[in-house]
Amino acid sequence: GTLDLEPLPLYYGWFLSRKSADLLWKAKLAFLERLGNLKAFRKRVKDFGMEETKRKINLPDYFSHRPNILHCTTKFTNYGKAPGSEQYAKLEAVKTSNGKAFSLTITALFVTPRTTGARVQLGEQELLLWPADAEKEAMPSENLPKGSRAHITLGCAEGVESKQTGLDLLEFVKFQQAGTEGEDMGELLDGMLHYFDKGLWMLSLSKKIEVKVIFSGFYG
Ligand code: A2P
Repeated sequence: GTLDLEPLPLYYGWFLSRKSADLLWKAKLAFLERLGNLKAFRKRVKDFGMEETKRKINLPDYFSHRPNILHCTTKFTNYGKAPGSEQYAKLEAVKTSNGKAFSLTITALFVTPRTTGARVQLGEQELLLWPADAEKEAMPSENLPKGSRAHITLGCAEGVESKQTGLDLLEFVKFQQAGTEGEDMGELLDGMLHYFDKGLWMLSLSKKIEVKVIFSGFYG
């Protein structure tokens, strides 16, 4: 049929291969286990609605809302109802990339009182699929670099929507844009842990994680 008659998906994005998803899920669990057991974290849980404790905090349970399919959303089109959906679907890059394999680079894992996710660094090829206004739409008053919202949601706290993960990531980006790298909390697993204000924790990976993905629309 013609493009006009084809329904638009709920969202477009890169979907992780089974193997890559397993790898990232294990990295997430290791991070949450270690962070929840870290004294520095257990002392700074006020923003998580908890009291300082000597016992390990069960972060995997705290982020009880887990995604079904690990993916990095490029554009939430909401079956054509979201602004800019048609324009996005008509992009040459979007049309030619459907079903194509890419490799995404994960540079950090993060935790906030609301969400946990992986930060994705987009390359030139991937940026062609990134909507021009993704960052402006989230933070109209800021001038954040294109692609800085790119992430993979790994979990949300009770009652938090997954779209929050990208907004949380931009909170870190705002700090970094202002030249604040956060408080150095030392090495953790394969990276350096940093604490920003208000319960924002980021693990910058010394060895970036490469994941295999397929670009496609998701219809739900
Ligand atoms: P994210 O990309 O942060 O994981 P839902 O499950 O709520 O229907 O959303 C489907 C996917 O689309 C999720 O991955 C979600 O967040 C993303 N998403 C939902 N709403 C929006 C939005 N308004 N803007 C950008 N992404 C969204």
